Amino acid sequence: MKSAGLSVREDAIGNIFGRWDGSENSREAIASGSHIDAIPYAGKYDGVVGVLGAIEAIRVLRSSGFKPRRSLEVIMFTSEEPTRFGLGCLGSRALAGQAGFVDVLKKAIDIHNISFAEAAKTAGYFEVHEKLEKVALLKGAYSAFIELHIEQGPTLEKEGIPVGIVTAIAAPASLKVEYKGNGGHAGAVLMPFRNDAGLAAAELALAVEEHVLASGSLDTVGTTGVLELHPGAINSIPREAHLEIDIRDIDEKRRDMVVEKVQQSASKIAINRRVQLENFIIVNQDPPAHSGEEVVEAAVLAAQQLGLQHKLMISRAYHDSLFMARITPMAMIFVPCYRGYSHRLDEYASEEDIVGGVKVLALTLARLSLS
Ligand code: GLV
Ligand code: MN
Ligand code: MN
Ligand code: MN
Repeated sequence: MKSAGLSVREDAIGNIFGRWDGSENSREAIASGSHIDAIPYAGKYDGVVGVLGAIEAIRVLRSSGFKPRRSLEVIMFTSEEPTRFGLGCLGSRALAGQAGFVDVLKKAIDIHNISFAEAAKTAGYFEVHEKLEKVALLKGAYSAFIELHIEQGPTLEKEGIPVGIVTAIAAPASLKVEYKGNGGHAGAVLMPFRNDAGLAAAELALAVEEHVLASGSLDTVGTTGVLELHPGAINSIPREAHLEIDIRDIDEKRRDMVVEKVQQSASKIAINRRVQLENFIIVNQDPPAHSGEEVVEAAVLAAQQLGLQHKLMISRAYHDSLFMARITPMAMIFVPCYRGYSHRLDEYASEEDIVGGVKVLALTLARLSLS
């Protein structure tokens, strides 16, 4: 950011901002950005394209002699992925001032029992909880936010369209569930006398699929991405099981219905299998977000100006934009990625497509900064 001539600042939770002052500096700025953290065994495009892309878009606008009126800002958000603390979009949730978020963050621990505050301190961010209220931005702090991202789905590549413009982001929810049984020796405890927490977890994973499919909509998706058994030895009946379940839909009510059914199944399974349902935690149950018409329109005009075909689409993945939408009109620019692969090592987007996305972003930022 510094070498692109931006003035850099960080907030207490580690969101990093790079600003290019416009001639009408007192008016709300236009922002763009994404995240650079990643899930394990991920690719290197998810998020990163939106951070480097925004810096490059501004760098190019500067070197072309463009003079912004509204200031332009790049934001690199803290911890978009939920991997470490089980909750995604920590930086953008904090910026959006989500109610109750301070309490959520106070309870956040990783698998080594390291709290968020401790982890932040190690990274040089002190007294995060105390400072969190100040991180929140007021509604209207920015006049628009736009995020460049790889599509993470196959549509653009399949249809040969270089640019997607996002009109809505699907509603994500995530759950943490723990079962506890008696455990015991895998040879010595006879089948009728077992309370196998692992099998309860397996049944619940299947119930998630069943309830999602029963919604009858292709837009409803559910994933049990974490299933850990304790003590995790071949000759020991699982005494504890830990599941993390992700459920999403573009329709919030339908998503909530599935969450409720999963909760009912979790209890029923515990009774049938004579194990304890130790925990059923709804970690987050976020509403969907809709893009701001004026931001979508600016992106559409930018694509047209560049002669790049575009498609209006919804985002099934969540992004920091989901939370920025709470405080400012937002939109997203998608570029195709190889076979729609994402959250896997062979994630790939071509230079040509990324360049297309960055150009659309640059022209969109330019247009919005003059508005
Ligand atoms: C964020 O990466 C998501 O899971 O959509
Ligand atoms: Mn991701
Ligand atoms: Mn991402
Ligand atoms: Mn994401």
